[in-house]
Amino acid sequence: MVVSIFFCNFAGDFIAQDWSIQQIQDMKGIILAGGSATRLYPLSKAISKQIMPVYDKPMIYYPLSALMLAGIREVLIISTPRDLPMFEELLGDGSRLGMTLRYKVQLVPNGLAQAFVLGREFLNGEPGCLILGDNMFYGQHFGHMLKEAVESAEKGGAVIFGYEVADPRAYGVVEFDESGKVLSLEEKPKEPKSNYAVPGLYFYDETVCEKAADLQPSARGEYEITDLNKLYLAEGTLKVKLFSRGFAWLDTGNCDSLLDAGNFIATIQNRQGFYVSCIEEIAWRNGWISTEQLAALGKEMKTNYGRYLERIAKKGY
Ligand code: DAU
Repeated sequence: MVVSIFFCNFAGDFIAQDWSIQQIQDMKGIILAGGSATRLYPLSKAISKQIMPVYDKPMIYYPLSALMLAGIREVLIISTPRDLPMFEELLGDGSRLGMTLRYKVQLVPNGLAQAFVLGREFLNGEPGCLILGDNMFYGQHFGHMLKEAVESAEKGGAVIFGYEVADPRAYGVVEFDESGKVLSLEEKPKEPKSNYAVPGLYFYDETVCEKAADLQPSARGEYEITDLNKLYLAEGTLKVKLFSRGFAWLDTGNCDSLLDAGNFIATIQNRQGFYVSCIEEIAWRNGWISTEQLAALGKEMKTNYGRYLERIAKKGY
């Protein structure tokens, strides 16, 4: 199991592009944050993996921040009956971030594509983005890439990403030609046709729920996201965007990679002074909450995190 970490290079994005409200799209997003995370036992025996700390914030902040960077303001969080109340307690209805957050139970973890069966009512026939609750990313121009993906999926088809890894056998694997045209997609192949893993971040047009409803379970009994992507491939509407080698897609699948991810965030934050995946900061930079609201959110927390919010609110940029 891979937890990809979407880290946002706030400094890079902030300098490189205009974070103004007019860039914000109205696509909806889904965070899939269920599963049993047995590879983290005993850590995850009694609590959700996606609520565990990655340095100074709960894991789900990272995928949530990725959606926010994409300009996505309405989000459905899907988790187990046991864990969903904890996410609700953590994030509430989203109004503190100028967002709308909704919640839905997944009774049985029978596949990622189920997000679009459970999320059908929420998406209401509109395009949507799915991010896995354990995926974390960090890199320059991430926000820009995400907004391009939103735009592309809103016009039609699907956008997935490719990330080169030394051993892609534990992932969905995408093969493409020199022009970037996708040639094949395989889930956890024994003999991968490329070294490009597909991270848990997907953008789809408005036909996604119909397509997901028609899927059949795979040999391992799961409704596979790769099978959903293959329907777009067969239609000729699947696009792949590549993350460059300077980009980090982090794994939190076992206790070593979870610790590494936390150390990575600590290193970046403490070196630069910019926080990674700080959801209150992104809400503010997106123009979803005021400077006064940001400062008030900071004041509630007597921690470095809270002081950071107060500091940027005072600076005003
Ligand atoms: O991380 C990227 C990979 O995620 C992709 O490359 C693969 O194509 C994709 O199938 C998926 O592979 P994993 O082996 O990582 O999937 P896993 O079953 O571990 O689930 C990923 C996360 O989604 C995990 O945090 C648990 C959660 N989940 C999973 C399933 C199957 C759910 O919330 N509900 C589910 O039904």
